[in-house]
This record gives sequence, C-alpha cells and structure tokens, in this order.
Amino acid sequence: MSVPREDGFVHLADYTPPAWRVVHADLAFDLDPDATDVSARLELQPDPAQPGAPLVLDGEALTLLAISLDGQPLDASRYRHDGRQLHLHGVTDACVLETRVRIHPAGNTRLEGLYTSCDLLLTQCEPEGFRRITFFIDQPDVMPRWRIVLRAPRDAYPVLLANGNPVGTRALGGGRHEAIWENPHPTPAYLFAIAAGALERVTRTVTTMEGREVELNVWAEPADVPRCGYALGAVERSLRWDEQRFGRAYDLDVFNVVAAQYFTMGAMENKGLNIFNARYVLADQATATDADFMGIESVVAHEYLHNWSGNRVTLRDWFQLSLKEGLTVFRDSEFSADLHSRALKRIEAVRVLRGRQFAEDGGALAHPVRPDRYREISNFYTLTIYEKGAEVVRLLHTLLGEKVFRAGMDRYFADNDGRAATLEDFLAAHAGASGRDLAQFARWYSQAGTPELRITEAFDAAAGEYTLTVDQHLPPTPGQPDKQPLLIPLQLALYDASGAAINAPPACDAAVGEGRVELVARRHVLRWTGLAAKPLAAFNHGFAAPVKIVFDYAASDLARLAQLERDPFLRWDLLQQLATGALLRTLDPHAAAGALSDALADLLTDEAADPAFVAECLALPDFDTLAESVPVVDVDALIGAREALLDRLTEDQVEHLQARYEALADAAGDGLSGEAMGARALRNACLAWLTRLDPTAALAQAQFDGARGMTERLGALRCLVHFDAPGAEPALQAFRTAFADDPLVTDKWLGLVATRPHPETRDAIYALLRSPWWNPTNPNRVRAVLGAFARSNPLGFHRRDGGGYQLVAEQIAVLDAINPPVAARLLAAFEGWRRLAQPLRTRSREALAPLEGRLVSPDCRDLLQRLLAP
Ligand code: PHE
Ligand code: ZN
Repeated sequence: MSVPREDGFVHLADYTPPAWRVVHADLAFDLDPDATDVSARLELQPDPAQPGAPLVLDGEALTLLAISLDGQPLDASRYRHDGRQLHLHGVTDACVLETRVRIHPAGNTRLEGLYTSCDLLLTQCEPEGFRRITFFIDQPDVMPRWRIVLRAPRDAYPVLLANGNPVGTRALGGGRHEAIWENPHPTPAYLFAIAAGALERVTRTVTTMEGREVELNVWAEPADVPRCGYALGAVERSLRWDEQRFGRAYDLDVFNVVAAQYFTMGAMENKGLNIFNARYVLADQATATDADFMGIESVVAHEYLHNWSGNRVTLRDWFQLSLKEGLTVFRDSEFSADLHSRALKRIEAVRVLRGRQFAEDGGALAHPVRPDRYREISNFYTLTIYEKGAEVVRLLHTLLGEKVFRAGMDRYFADNDGRAATLEDFLAAHAGASGRDLAQFARWYSQAGTPELRITEAFDAAAGEYTLTVDQHLPPTPGQPDKQPLLIPLQLALYDASGAAINAPPACDAAVGEGRVELVARRHVLRWTGLAAKPLAAFNHGFAAPVKIVFDYAASDLARLAQLERDPFLRWDLLQQLATGALLRTLDPHAAAGALSDALADLLTDEAADPAFVAECLALPDFDTLAESVPVVDVDALIGAREALLDRLTEDQVEHLQARYEALADAAGDGLSGEAMGARALRNACLAWLTRLDPTAALAQAQFDGARGMTERLGALRCLVHFDAPGAEPALQAFRTAFADDPLVTDKWLGLVATRPHPETRDAIYALLRSPWWNPTNPNRVRAVLGAFARSNPLGFHRRDGGGYQLVAEQIAVLDAINPPVAARLLAAFEGWRRLAQPLRTRSREALAPLEGRLVSPDCRDLLQRLLAP
C-alpha cells in the first residue's frame, strides 16, 4: 500500500505489499438511479509479515448505513470514516466485514463509480473509482474472487450484467428481479463492472482453442443495436488473433461489451464486461467513417487483449501502468498490422508519436514511461504511458526477434498468471527467455524525454573510408537533468552510386545485427572501408527506434533515397523530411519543394502504388509535428509556410490530382474492403488539395451531394467548411438535420466547425457553447468542441490576442466542477506553452495564472502546478 508523503506525492520507492487482503468479495446492489444501496461482505486476511497493521479501507462519497464485523454490528467507537478512508480499530485477525452504503448515480457527473448514461446504470472503476461504490482496499494488488448480485425493477432494467459468468436470475416481488454473477478469477477492484438497463444485443457463440464455448455479446440501447455488428466481428477477430499469435485463450463463458454514450475515455477492459464509449462500438457506413471503423476494430482489440495483458496478469501498483497499457497497445497494433497494412499502421502510429507524444516528452508534463511519483494517477493516462510504452515493447521485439520475444511473453504469462506484476517481472521473463542482460534497456522505462541521435558523416576518398559518428543526446526533463545512455537499435542502410545496397556491416564497438547496430554508448563511430565513392545512408527503417534523427541531408539525397528504399515506412518518412526541410528552411526550400513535387507526381501517376499509401504521402507533417521540430514555436509562421507549400504543390499537381480523383471513383464506391477504403482516402486527400484552388468548391459540393457513405460525406463537408465555400452553410444545415438525433454524428460536424482554421473560430465556439448542442456533462461533446479547438485548431487556439486561451481556460474552470479528468485533459493542451514565441507565451501564462485560485479538483490542481512549475 502506498500513501502520499508530506510532499503530497505517492512515491514508487514507498511501495509495500498490502497489510490486508480481500480474499473474497460478495456484493449486492439494489439499483436505483437516485439512491442505490450496496451491501458488501468482504473476507479479509492480514499479511502475516505485517502483524498488527491497521485495517484501513478506501471509501469516498459513500453514506454508511450499516457496518458489522464477523456478524456483530460495530459500535461507532470501533471505526472512523474521514470521508476518504474507513479506519477500523483493534482488528488484527482474519475477519468478515459487512457494510451497507448508499450512493447517488444520477448526480455523478464525474462518471467514476456508479453513474447514469442516458437510461443505463454503468460503472467506471479504473483507476480509483471503486471506492465510490463501496468500502474496499482499492489498489490493484488486492485481488479477491467475486460474487455479485444485482436487483432492480424489471421494466427499467431488464438486463443486469456484471463481471464473470452468469449464475442465474430470478423474479422478486413488486416487479423486481435479480441476477447473480460470479467472477472466479482473482481480480482487482479497478476491473469491477456492472451494467443495467434496457439493453439489447447482437451475439454469436465461438469455441476457443481450449474447447470452451463462449458467448460473445455486444449490447446497446435498442435503437443502436443495428450498428453493433462490426464491433462483434472485431471481438471474434481479436479472440482468434490472440490464440494464434500469442497462444492466449479466453477464460470465461461470456464476453460482454456495452456501448455507453457517456464515457470519459475510449473503453474499459473490465473482466468479462467491457464498457465502451459508444463511438468505439456503433458503426455503419451511413454514419461512420472508415477511420471510425478502423478505430473501433483497434479499440475492441485493445480491450479484448487486456484480458491477458492487464487482467490475468495485473499491476502491482499504478506506477506499473504501462505494463498493461504499453504492452496492450503494442499487441493491438500488431493485431491491426497483421490484419491490414503493416506499413500504414506504422505511419499512423508514428504520426501520433511525433506530433503528440514527442510534444508531451518535451513539454512541462514530461514523465518517464514508469513515473516515480504522482499526486493524481488519473493524470497519467498519457501518450507516454500508452504510445511510448508500446514503442519500448516494440524495441524489445526488434532486439529479440519474434521467436524469442514470443518465448519471453509465454514465460511472462506463465510466471505471473493471477498475480500483480511489475515491469521488472516483464523484463525478467524476457531476459530469462533470451539470455540477454536487459539492465541498460530498462532505462527506457525510467528516463523521460525523446532521445536524439545526431549523426555526422565523413568520407575519405583516398582511403575509401566512410564513417558515421552517432551521438546520443538525451534532453533534460522536469526532475531529470542528467541521463544515462540508452540501448538503441539503429537500423541503417547504405547505397552506392548505382543505387545498390552496400551489405557489408560496419566496423564499430557496438553489437551489429542484421541491418542494424545496437548503440549503447553516448558516441559510436561506424566505419566502412573499400568504398569507391561516398555512399548514401538511410536510418531507422520502420521507425524501429522512437527517436529523433538529426543528419545533414541535401534535398536531392532525400529524394534519391525515397526512390531506392524498399521499406515503405521510410519512403514515406523521407518525403516527410523533404517537406519539413522545405517548411523550416533547413533545406534549400526551392530544391526541397521541387523534389517533393516530383516525388508526389511519380506517386500520383503510378497506378501500382497503393492509394492509401499515396494519401499518407500527400498528408504533409501537421502543425504539431512541425512545432516539435523547432526550438521556438511561431504559430502563424509555421502555418503560413505550410499553407504556401500546399498551394505550390497543388498548382504543380492539379492535373494528376484530378485524374487520380476521377480514376478512383468506382473503386471508392462501397464496402469496407482495404481497396475501397484506400480509394476513399486518396480521393479525400486529392479533394482537399483541389479545393484550395477552387473558390466555388464545386467538386467538394458534388461529392457531398452524391456521397455514398460517411467517409465521402464528411470528407466533402470538411472541405466546404474549412475553405469557406459558398455551399458550406447549407451543407452544414443539411447534415445537421439529417443526423439531428445521433449524438455521435453531431459530434462530427461540431468537430469540423471547431477546427475551421481561422482565428474567428473562437467566436463560433462561443456561439456553440450557448447553443442547444452544448452539453458539458458529455465527454464526447466536450472533446468534439473544446478538445478539437484546443488540440487541432492552432490558428484558433493560438490567436495572437490570447482569446483562444481565455476561452479554453474559462471552460476548464467550469468543467473542473463537472468532470475533473475531462477538465484535466483539456488543461494538458497547454503543455507546450513555454516554447511559444511572444506574445503567445505571455498570453498563455495570463490565461493559466488565474486558474490557480479557481480550480478545485486534485486532477486539475496537479496539472496546473506542473504546467506552471519554474
Ligand atoms: N484502461 C483503459 C484502456 O486502456 C483506459 C481507461 C482508463 C478507461 C481509465 C477508463 C478510465 O483501455
Ligand atoms: Zn488499455
């Protein structure tokens, strides 16, 4: 158990095993949105190694109705409840504690514990929500087995779901009924869940590789059930993939997924009863884009895969969060890569990493993949824990190779099944299976910041000797001024003047693997001899290492390499580097833009090129990625340069763009095949470029009017709205009315309005906040309007007068009282404020400073302190 120190932080170094364990938990709920009564019977056992340790349970926002110990009502002098914890006096031996408490789901806008989502009653317990349901030792290393009884009126709550397997149902008097569930696997409280309401489902039964019949169900409110089929298919694909790729079978008789309109995060992996944000469940082609379908499949996989990486093997403490999240993101990204295009999946992940995770790593909120202290754990559901955590697992996979990595995973699951594990356990399993010492590798978990590899080349023509000097630079981050060198596998390739690959490995003082060197020191010198001319070097194929590479290329080198390289990720990346060099003027801008234009012309006219890949190449580095590449961020200058380059490229390519757009019309027609999706992706990319040159936006208007699904409709609407086309207002109006009763589609048009790239969008946001569409209690709605504005509308958010910051700061103060985790996520949009060019740096500080007196939640107060810390 870890308690905060004087400094208000919980420290990793303070961990001790729980002094008391709950071996069995028996819960009974009398469900009612206004007042639910929860009876709990907990079998408690003291840790023999910590005799006499006091018995303390967590409990917040609970009204205690009754309490007894070993069957005897407890006198008030025997316990104390301070609003956060229940202290029991003089209890030293194994015992049974029974409590009855009352909670109030309908008023629970935090959406943690038991809450209402439209007409449903749902729970969210990760990380510390269970203590809002009943008194409990609410930490992940306390793992009882569970029996859960749900009672409710049958008319309002005909379906009653909980973790584990269904045991039975029966009618009670007065129109009420009861359902009993049992979860036989030791499970921490953060994975507890119930769901009740007028749910309906799609269902199918599958047999696992171990021969177990499992009923897969996806539940939603009745009107939404026709849109659940795709998610159900994704559950089955995930189940099969985990059997095939990791040898992991499902372990209960049912796997239930419930769609919720009110949900703070994406989805939650509760044992046997996953609760999902509806946006990651509901889809058909009329209302969901291709990106939505792909997002659903990957989130379904993510939650399903947690059943082993997170549930069967859970966390010792919250510092280990990446043990389940980084590992599960790695697993779900491999799932998507195996089922679809590996290269496209990698490009998508690298965009997020470079644009967002690198920004986090370089900003005021930087923290290691395994933090060593926290004030508020809910602020650590970050891109660093998830995405960088996944990159670290990928590094391990690269270093060990698939076969040895799989052996390490088998060992990890075998050694830790049913336990609460640590990142050390994970590394120990891989060290054991591979025979490698992973001590230096472990620094990836403890050191924050994005490593930079500064590479310089030299060629001695007389001696035929080529050298690369690789310096590892690890920038200081809050609390970590000095860093130790990391183990970094650097993939590299050399090409000779004829374009042939030079296969000879370099001479160097680092281990050399196939196509890579394993850097371990701050500096390595790699040397090749016997070369007739200076070769061309390419680095970091597949983005195997999550690092920044600094190397002085000429534009012509990048263009040539983009032709020579066979690694599709790197081909894409080389074009991104050309664009970045042109935009930031680190390359001769004219030469770079010209080379990029030629490369794009080749791609657009190459009928063999995968349209989805071409679409990725057309998408220039976004604002976040560019901002990450400069020391001081001048927002208007970056965006101005980007727009100018886009204009120039469009003028060059207009005919190719038109031809490609036309040629793909049929292929883009229908269906969810990779081919159709790729065609739609490239057509939407072409359309966005072409609309720049056409003030009437006729093509976009035509696509909107004749759209064959949401991908075409929304792609066209974005062009109309973002380029201020004459038809923008009528199209928005038509779209609004057509989907007025669908909150998820409403979020889409709101998002388009909120991201219109213009400073005036600030005023449009104020108008939305006064409109009937605004609903600050729904996290999806907050994200669609304010999240999109703050994160994806640099011209609006970073208005020169600070008006964008003011708006967001005011709303953070409002949301702080409604849903602190949602408010805190919005606050994190200020993470890069210190690197902004004046006057924006001052303007953002002026917006943040007054929040110090206004924010009350621990979530927001923690973030604000970290943002403003000197
Ligand atoms: N554990 C969830 C996931 O990654 C995320 C989550 C965190 C959901 C906290 C709700 C609350 O899949
Ligand atoms: Zn997860």
